[in-house]
Amino acid sequence: MSRQKLKFCTILNMVFEKILSAHRMLRRKRKVGPRMPEVKKPAQPEAKFLISAPKWKEVPDYGLPFVVVAGRSNVGKSSFINYLVNRKNLARTSSTPGRTRLLNFFDVGGRFILVDVPGYGYANAPKEEARKWLENLMSFISGCDSVACVIQLLDIRRDPTADDKWFAREVMATGCQLMPVVTKADKLARTHWKKRAKEIGAAIGVGSKIPVTSAQDKIGREEVTAMIDEAISGGEQPVKLPVIALDGPSGAGKSTVAKLVAKKLGWSYLDTGAMYRAIGLKADREGIAMEDHPALGELCARTDLSLRPDPSGQTRIFLDGEDVSEKIREHRVSALASAVSASPPVREAMAAFQRRIGASTPTVCEGRDMGTVVFPDALLKIFLTAAPETRAKRRVLELEGRGERAEYDKILADIVKRDHADSTRAHSPLKQAEDAVLVDSGNLDAEGVAERVVGLVKG
Ligand code: DC
Repeated sequence: MSRQKLKFCTILNMVFEKILSAHRMLRRKRKVGPRMPEVKKPAQPEAKFLISAPKWKEVPDYGLPFVVVAGRSNVGKSSFINYLVNRKNLARTSSTPGRTRLLNFFDVGGRFILVDVPGYGYANAPKEEARKWLENLMSFISGCDSVACVIQLLDIRRDPTADDKWFAREVMATGCQLMPVVTKADKLARTHWKKRAKEIGAAIGVGSKIPVTSAQDKIGREEVTAMIDEAISGGEQPVKLPVIALDGPSGAGKSTVAKLVAKKLGWSYLDTGAMYRAIGLKADREGIAMEDHPALGELCARTDLSLRPDPSGQTRIFLDGEDVSEKIREHRVSALASAVSASPPVREAMAAFQRRIGASTPTVCEGRDMGTVVFPDALLKIFLTAAPETRAKRRVLELEGRGERAEYDKILADIVKRDHADSTRAHSPLKQAEDAVLVDSGNLDAEGVAERVVGLVKG
């Protein structure tokens, strides 16, 4: 190429470059457009709650079981729900209307209804708002009889947060079946799945058999589907509450054994009889008749009961702030407790309270209806008993040890009478749960029984 030609080409190239850059700038300017005056963003419309906390009963009764799907934001809820509604035998009849509403209802082929919720701890929501959503959801779960199960989604890459743990505990406290599901498995090598599922399960206190799923690779779908089907048809509960339900008649040695077991396992101990004793004491002080159920229910509603360990590790019970730990052990209070415990509103109030305490931490719960009513999903159920004569002898020794007068015949008669009243009352009578292990404390000392219970938990 001649020198002149080369110079011409270079100039042409420069001109072309200039034109191109001018064109690019023009395009960029056009894209930005004229500067608009600053406009104030309109206030976000207040989130509309389909179900507000006290009004959960307004949810239309579809006559179908609900499956609640919940989890933090970005945990894969929408993909999970899409997968469920797209199952072969299910048809989606409505789509997700977005994340602004508390609960979205789906009619999935007339089989069941799914409830989607905005992620708790939802990143962009103000704390109070997110809290309101959660409270609303919890009120729905605890109040609606047709909730078959609550699926809690947990991201395989993240450790459960305080919100995750709180949510799991609250759901378990309602007695509703909690089904944790680990999501986003595709983000981690398959070799890590089992370990992560185990860690996540342990962190929220639900065991290690948690299905691992991925919307991306259709992993874990069969397992989850089978679990939901089982929940809907009332099958076995996959999650057991870390509770030992220890029931039996009075004087069988429940308290001593329960305390020993709790100490050996490092668990909390809950004496539910003490609660009925405190309520019986208060009803007696206020002169409320034991047959006046509405008044007893109202008494429970305005009673502040609390159980606190003292420095020696013994639990003390406070009735409206007054330490009644000794008072409730008086012989006459036993009869008051037995009478008041036959009242349905009292039992309901106590059971809700006990479930809340028991589900909040691994607990050995002692009572009459722990395995049958309050913790049907307990990890282990024990029915501890002994002949009435053996129990009467123990009671005499106990009372004499406290300096109280004790007549064996009267004590035996009282025990037989109380056994009869406790086991024949209409509401939550004392009886052995079908899946409880029967232990006779007549020929074993407390230490021996406790060892056996610990062995059953660990085995
Ligand atoms: O375990 P205890 O003796 O402290 O119980 C006192 C009374 O309360 C007893 O008559 C049975 C009743 N009770 C009950 O009905 N349900 C419980 N879970 C615990 C005790």
